[in-house]
Amino acid sequence: MSTRSSEQSQSTPPGVRRERFGTTPDGQIVERFTLTSPSGVTIGVLSFGGVIQSILAPDRRGALADVTLGYDTLEEYGRDKSYLGALVGRYANRIREGRFTLEGREYTLAKNAGGNHLHGGMRGFNKAVWAVKPFEERGDIGLALEHVSRDGDEGYPGTLRARVSYRLTRDGELVIDFLATTDKATPVNLTQHAYFNLAGSGSGDILGHSLELNASRFTPVDATLIPTGELRSVRGTPFDFSTAETVGARIGADDEQLRLAGGYDHNFVLDRTGGAELALAARLTEPVSGRGVDIHTTEPGIQFYTGNFLDGTVMGKGGVPHRYRSGLALETQHFPNSPNEPSFPSTILQPGAEHRSRTVYHFVVRPT
Ligand code: BGC
Repeated sequence: MSTRSSEQSQSTPPGVRRERFGTTPDGQIVERFTLTSPSGVTIGVLSFGGVIQSILAPDRRGALADVTLGYDTLEEYGRDKSYLGALVGRYANRIREGRFTLEGREYTLAKNAGGNHLHGGMRGFNKAVWAVKPFEERGDIGLALEHVSRDGDEGYPGTLRARVSYRLTRDGELVIDFLATTDKATPVNLTQHAYFNLAGSGSGDILGHSLELNASRFTPVDATLIPTGELRSVRGTPFDFSTAETVGARIGADDEQLRLAGGYDHNFVLDRTGGAELALAARLTEPVSGRGVDIHTTEPGIQFYTGNFLDGTVMGKGGVPHRYRSGLALETQHFPNSPNEPSFPSTILQPGAEHRSRTVYHFVVRPT
């Protein structure tokens, strides 16, 4: 025991705390890592699902609140169907009828969301125990996570090796790097599925948050939330967040797209002047506390989801239920159903190539 803890203290840099969180039903040990930065931002990460379990962020007066939804125990993460804080793969978002054809072969995936495939299937990356190594790099602290998904896992072709790095900078930026390689052509779309409530998880709904999205178009959906293929202008619609708007201001508007999804649950097409460089995707603000998060990404899209399926039946941290619209997700990603939509940017990863993407959450305090 003493040998183990001295090994751990050697490999765990200052600012990172490592502890045991639980054991999965099949006997795998799950750890929790707590990363604390001088900015006051503190992030709790689990090896199970690469879950971001907690994000403590200061308000205008320096008061900390946990601004992400989650659970207290591993058992609850094992049962979770809302992907709270998890890494999502192999394919984040929906694939129509759980089917796609690649290089002349048809592949069948689980239909785990109303006849469609969602977020990698029954046991996606969110249910895997990832190998985690803490690191320190030029004053930043972080975690390198790795997961190998075997050929045929959840119906997908090829052995996919996924690496994700969470790096917390001194001034409160969380830099998330995704890397994947494969030995057979396969679709890949990886994301981080944190739900934010910048007033504090469990404090109420997110309708008073203010949001700006760097997107002039979005992908309208059919009744099963699969994009129709159209890239539609947001102008003059409740989907226009090109200047900051309150999330709840138009969510109840008489709009076909809002009705189909029960609120916002749509992919926005990010405006880019350059190629795939890091660019602003979203700015979220909770006006009372002044807490904000700016999201930059190399991805072409972002799913804005207002927690319309949270219904108060599942308990969260501190025994507070996850009520309707008590958190919102901003998932940087490629567009939903891309394997069946040739006009969308391709999500096919070829052997010998690397899938790389970066998303940055910068936790900030905004002036009044
Ligand atoms: C999807 C929602 C889904 C939620 C939880 C989001 O990414 O857009 O439709 O209900 O994840 O699974």
